[in-house]
Parts: sequence; C-alpha cells; structure tokens
Amino acid sequence: MAWTKTIAYTLATCSLWLPTNADNVWPNEATDELEKMLFEQQNPFESSLATFAVPCSASGLAIGRGFGAEWIRNAYHDMATADVQAGTGGIDASIVFEKDRPENPGAGFQETLDFFRPRYTTRSSLADLFAMGAVFGVGGCSNGNIILPYRAGRVDATGPGPSGVPEPQEDLATHTAKFVRQGFNTTEMIALVACGHTVGGVHGVDFPEIVPNPQPPPVTGPFGNDNTVFFDTTTSNFDNQVAKEFVANISQNPLAFGHNETTRSDFRIFNADGGDMISRMAESLDFFSQTCATLLERMINTVPPSVKLTDVLQPLPVKPRKWSIDVNADKTLTVSLTLRIVDTLLGGGIQALVKPVSRTGAALPATSPVVIGNISTSTCDYPNCGPSFVYLDYNINIPAEQGISSFTVDITDGTGKTTTYNNGGAGFPLSDAVQPQMSLSTQTTKTVNGVTLQQLNVTAAVYNADQYTNISLIVPQPSNFSATISPWVAEVAPMKASGKIAGTNYTLYTGSWLASDESAPQHPFDVLATGPKGSASSTFNSWGDVPFVL
Ligand code: HEM
Ligand SMILES: *[C@@H]1O[C@H](CO)[C@@H](O)[C@H](O)[C@H]1NC(C)=O
Ligand SMILES: *[C@@H]1O[C@H](CO)[C@@H](O)[C@H](O)[C@H]1NC(C)=O
Ligand SMILES: *[C@@H]1O[C@H](CO)[C@@H](O)[C@H](O)[C@H]1NC(C)=O
Ligand SMILES: *[C@@H]1O[C@H](CO)[C@@H](O)[C@H](O)[C@H]1NC(C)=O
Ligand SMILES: *[C@@H]1O[C@H](CO)[C@@H](O)[C@H](O)[C@H]1NC(C)=O
Ligand SMILES: *[C@@H]1O[C@H](CO)[C@@H](O)[C@H](O)[C@H]1NC(C)=O
Ligand SMILES: *[C@@H]1O[C@H](CO)[C@@H](O)[C@H](O)[C@H]1NC(C)=O
Ligand SMILES: *[C@@H]1O[C@H](CO)[C@@H](O)[C@H](O)[C@H]1NC(C)=O
Repeated sequence: MAWTKTIAYTLATCSLWLPTNADNVWPNEATDELEKMLFEQQNPFESSLATFAVPCSASGLAIGRGFGAEWIRNAYHDMATADVQAGTGGIDASIVFEKDRPENPGAGFQETLDFFRPRYTTRSSLADLFAMGAVFGVGGCSNGNIILPYRAGRVDATGPGPSGVPEPQEDLATHTAKFVRQGFNTTEMIALVACGHTVGGVHGVDFPEIVPNPQPPPVTGPFGNDNTVFFDTTTSNFDNQVAKEFVANISQNPLAFGHNETTRSDFRIFNADGGDMISRMAESLDFFSQTCATLLERMINTVPPSVKLTDVLQPLPVKPRKWSIDVNADKTLTVSLTLRIVDTLLGGGIQALVKPVSRTGAALPATSPVVIGNISTSTCDYPNCGPSFVYLDYNINIPAEQGISSFTVDITDGTGKTTTYNNGGAGFPLSDAVQPQMSLSTQTTKTVNGVTLQQLNVTAAVYNADQYTNISLIVPQPSNFSATISPWVAEVAPMKASGKIAGTNYTLYTGSWLASDESAPQHPFDVLATGPKGSASSTFNSWGDVPFVL
C-alpha cells in the first residue's frame, strides 16, 4: 500500500492549518463549506439541499411525509437527550446511532441521514448539517418567515448517547422533567412542542396505537402511503394554525384529540400552564414566529460547554468560489478564478476589477480591466435565505517568476462608486506554492482481490521544492467503515518528484492514493508540503475537478 493511516484527522491538521479569527474573512475552514450550503442554495455548481424543503409538502417520500418536518424532528430527537446541567449531549448527530430505539420510530431519521451524509466532511460535521436541516425545514416551511440564525462548530458523537427522547404515552411530569433536562421550562416546553408540531403529523405506520391502520381510502403513490394524520390543517405551513385549532377545540391533532387518551401528550402539554401560552401563540402569528425562532435557535445551539460555536454565519460579500493555478510550459502561470459577489454590490454593467499581487508582494501589471466569462447566479430556495450572488470567471497569465500571492477586487456599483474589497485588509490569499495540476491528475478504479476501489493520482506543482522534506497527498477517510459515521483520519500517500518545469522554479510531484474500502467517500483532498523552514498546502480540492479515466 502506498499510503499509511495516521492519527485522527483533527490532530493531524490543527497544528498545520490554524483556523482564522472570528472576522468574516476568507478562507475560513470552520465556516466556508457551511456558508456555501446555507446561502448559495440554487447555484450552478452543486445541488441544493434546501430545495427539498420547498415546497414543505415535498414529494419523493411516502404520501404523508415531508423533508422539512423530518429534518426538524431529526434535530429535536438528536438534541432531546441533552442534559444541560451535566453539559452532555445536544446536537451531536448521536441520533444516527440511536435510530433503532423505541423512542425514535419511523423512517425520518434514516431519510435525513441519507440526505445529509454526502455533505459530511472534515469541514461540515454531521451535527452541523443536522442543525442546518432544521434551518432549512423552518425556512422552507415558513416560506422565509422564520430564518434561524446559524452557527457552525458542532462536534459529532462517536457512538450512541443516553436515551430519553419524550414519548407520547408518558405523563406530564415526565415530559416536564425531560424538557428541564434539555434546558426548557414549562412555558418553553409548551411553545417548543407547538413549534415542532405545526408541520408534519403522526404516521400510522409508526404509531398504529395513535393513528389506526389502514386509514381509508388506501391511496398509494410510488413511495407508498404511511397513513399520516397531520397536526393541523396547514401541515405545509410553519404557522400558528396548530395553536389556533387547539384552542378552538378542532380535533385535527392526533396527539391532542386522538382516540387514545394515553397518547394525548400535546393536550397535556398545551394545558400545562392552564392554556395561557398556547392561547397567546394562537392569537398572534408574530408572537408565535418570534417565540419559535428564539426556542428553535436555542434547540439547534444546544451543545456541551466544551463545544464552541462560531459567530452567526454571514454571507461574504466577495468570496473566491473556485480557483486553480496551472504552471505552463511557457513559464507562465494561468490563474483561473470564479468569484462570488453579492449581486446588489454590482452596477448594471458588472464592473469588477481583479488586482493580483505577486509572490513578493508587488502589484502586478494591469490585468484585463473587466471580469469576463459566464455570468450565472445563485438564489434562495425560500425567501430571505440571504442575498443573491453572481459568479464571475476570471483568468490571467502571470510570469511564473513573479507568481501570485493574493488579490483584491474593485467593484463599481450602480451609482458609479468604486469600492475595494480586500478581505479585511490583507487581500484574498491565493498561494501558488503548492498547486494540484488537474489536467495531469486522474481518478480511476482499480480492482484488488475482486473489490473495486477508487484510485486518485495527483500531480502537483511545488515552488522551490528543495525547502520541503515531505510532500504528501492526503485524503481524509472514515476511521471505521463499519460505523454509520466515524471520525475522519488522514490517509497519506507520499508524493515523489516527477520532473522540473523548465525555466521555472516549479517541480512536479506525483502521488497515488488507493481506497481501502469499496465504499470510500470522495472526500476533498489536500496536498501538503512540510519542512524545517515551513509548510505550504493546497487544501480541500474537489474530485470533481480531476479527470476520470477508465
Ligand atoms: C413531549 C414532546 C414530544 C412528543 C411526545 C412528540 C411526539 C411526536 C410523535 C409521536 C410524532 C409522530 C412521529 C411519526 O409518526 O413518525 C411527532 C412528530 C413530529 N414532531 Fe414531535 N413530539 C414532541 C416534541 C417535539 C418537538 C419539541 C419538536 C420540534 C421542535 C417536534 C417536532 C416534530 C415534527 C416536526 C414532527 C413531524 C414529523 C413528520 O411529519 O415526519 N416534536 N412528535
Ligand atoms: C420560562 O422562562 C422564561 C424566560 O426564559 C420566562 O419568561 C417564563 O416565565 C418561564 N416560565 C416558567 C414557567 O418558569
Ligand atoms: C393507547 O396507547 C398506549 C400507549 O402506546 C397503548 O399501550 C394502548 O394499547 C393504546 N390503546 C389503544 C386502544 O390503542
Ligand atoms: C373546548 O373544550 C373545552 C373542554 O370541553 C371547553 O371547556 C372549552 O370551552 C371549549 N372551547 C371552545 C372554544 O369551544
Ligand atoms: C460559457 O459556457 C459555455 C457552456 O457552458 C462554454 O462553452 C463557454 O466556453 C463559456 N464561455 C466562457 C467565456 O467561459
Ligand atoms: C528561482 O528561484 C531563485 C531563488 O529564489 C530566484 O533567484 C530565481 O529568479 C528563480 N527563477 C525563476 C525562473 O523563477
Ligand atoms: C496511478 O498511479 C499508480 C501508481 O503509480 C499507477 O499504477 C496507475 O497506473 C496510475 N493510474 C493512472 C490512471 O494513471
Ligand atoms: C509526511 O507528512 C505526512 C502528513 O503530515 C505524515 O503523515 C507522514 O508521516 C510524513 N512522512 C514522513 C516520511 O515523515
Ligand atoms: C466500528 O464500528 C462498528 C459498528 O458500529 C463497531 O461494532 C466496531 O466496534 C467499530 N470498530 C472500531 C475499531 O471502533
């Protein structure tokens, strides 16, 4: 094997790539991926997850199921075993290990996992993704009326936690105590349950003692029918209808008015304060929405004190979205960049000027005055998710001897005023020290003992390679392929010099990584050069940019 497993990925990386400070600057390993998923919902590069919560009654699941409702319930059940006094549990994705418990019936947890797991990376914990699922569910189902502020930084559990999700047959004292354990008093319990039970419903296939099966007529769709009785008559709207119908004695909600008195947990909870809170929520949609926004934000931010969440994510006004630096045979570098810009910053003519800075810090000679290329946009799946963006392609050739270290962007708005975007002062860093050369790299498969494994061969250009003693290709992989999720480990393949690029100080290095398991994920890869005088790296490179060969 060309590669060897090393220590856990977090240990391997923290000393080499320090996270940036709380300023909203690029790059930021803690937030860049999540910022993209949160704000660039419909974008030209990747499919949107938020789109599945729009409309809230989304199809693609059994009749009666919706993604938004599932994602909200998934987040609650993940959080619901928290003990805030003890400082344990909370949103930590431990639900993935707890799906078989009697307190977690239904397909919703597996369906949520299946959706979010492909986005699970070293830069997006599953716990952060589950919290984002709740943001999408609430945003999509409220049609943008409620936008939960989103922070990153949740840490995934490595196994199941204690049990303790509330169940409908339990009495009020038990529920009250469980919500206190989760950090919510009686008033807040009433509200949080009403906020959760404004979308979706009780699925007869999961709770036959609450919703008897079958409910005539037996309508079936391609994914079946799970016999749902919704909590209110506007199941697809995140609104106060559930509260209104409760106080009006409309017997829609099976957890409030169902035939089985034992499982009328909503009835007991909504009356826990004599009906005061639920009446206030019924009276005012604004009060309902503000209350739910506050409590659901607290729900998704329930984490142990040892876990430090980031500031609320804000969209960067200007963000490098994709970039590459190719070293050419004619002793030039081709710098290719796709910039994402908040569209309201730009005037009608889209006047933006990229000002590159050389390796030694000198302003490079005038470049193309106007960014060119295919302009495409990103928009929200539901209102108010954030600004719209435009993407601008930019390409320049720079003498390899001068190189590039950073750039700034001048943008002229609709009034003719020009503003320089310099990423908090230092410019947008763009190092040409180590760069994978995608056109020289390949991905393929290799059959070993009858098992088809992925193989990634990367060639990278390394500037002044003499200064490094170790140049490696790093592909993070699950530490345990048998587990639902497991901590990432850095699988390391050594890279060897494969030739100098004449007339430049670049040397090509090549390394080959072979997956250890047929289910190996195509996790973004790094090229890392280290030595006594320092280190350089190119991190989180996408397999999508590497040509596939048979
Ligand atoms: C005492 C507390 C609670 C009890 C006993 C309870 C019980 C239930 C039950 C029995 C279902 C039906 C699930 C199924 O058929 O698969 C359900 C659905 C749901 N619950 Fe709760 N719940 C509670 C609190 C909450 C809270 C606090 C939230 C979120 C803030 C929440 C969100 C949801 C959602 C969104 C659904 C619909 C899921 C779907 O349609 O797939 N629940 N709940
Ligand atoms: C619950 O806490 C809120 C403030 O966080 C407070 O306004 C409310 O009165 C409390 N309810 C109970 C029953 O203590
Ligand atoms: C009502 O629910 C309880 C608790 O799940 C269950 O034990 C009981 O059998 C149910 N009763 C009926 C009539 O379905
Ligand atoms: C709802 O039912 C309760 C209990 O039967 C009753 O006290 C209350 O007046 C009813 N409310 C309405 C609006 O009908
Ligand atoms: C614009 O996009 C089309 C289709 O994706 C592509 O063929 C063309 O080369 C692009 N033009 C520029 C300037 O990037
Ligand atoms: C290569 O590096 C040396 C030492 O840093 C420098 O003097 C020289 O100009 C560089 N040559 C090229 C072609 O970049
Ligand atoms: C990838 O590298 C391995 C190891 O050097 C080599 O055996 C294999 O042929 C390479 N695959 C491709 C497609 O270049
Ligand atoms: C090279 O660096 C990688 C990544 O830090 C490390 O895992 C590997 O052990 C190093 N190799 C040698 C020979 O030092
Ligand atoms: C890997 O995960 C499986 C399934 O959860 C578990 O049984 C096994 O003990 C784990 N192996 C290690 C080495 O942790």
